[in-house]
Amino acid sequence: MWCSSCGQTSSNHSPRLNRPTGRPPVLLTQIDHVAIAVHDLEAAIDYHRRAFGAEVHHREVVERDGVDEALLRIGESYLQLTTGTRPDSAITTFLAKRGEGIHHIGYRVEDCAEALAAIVAAGGRAIDLEPRPGSRGTTVAFVHPKGSFGTLIELVQE
Ligand code: CO
Repeated sequence: MWCSSCGQTSSNHSPRLNRPTGRPPVLLTQIDHVAIAVHDLEAAIDYHRRAFGAEVHHREVVERDGVDEALLRIGESYLQLTTGTRPDSAITTFLAKRGEGIHHIGYRVEDCAEALAAIVAAGGRAIDLEPRPGSRGTTVAFVHPKGSFGTLIELVQE
């Protein structure tokens, strides 16, 4: 396949990212957080405190998403305990349908927009078409489980 924007011929050449051929873009820096949906946030925090000595590093109600969340620090990453604050919240729907458990994994990236474009170019499905504000002042975008091997992914740029 010939790329009209730069004249290169390569099956995996991506003109949008304008990177050298044959090497995938390195966009992930580490796991930002693993998010667990729970019915009772206080009970979940208390359990993690008693079982692991884990303390809440950050607590936030994200009104836009209808979620109440607590971040417990694990090294440079977080365990995020989250619950819904209203019936139309995605977490409330998830809990009703699937029960408690892992809801999504946050991948920390240098550039959320670039990572989102690379995922879409690779066949993934964006839920957020553009990066948007997340909790603790981050910039985030969600990627649909369909197209990402059954796992809801959140791209997190600090
Ligand atoms: Co998250």
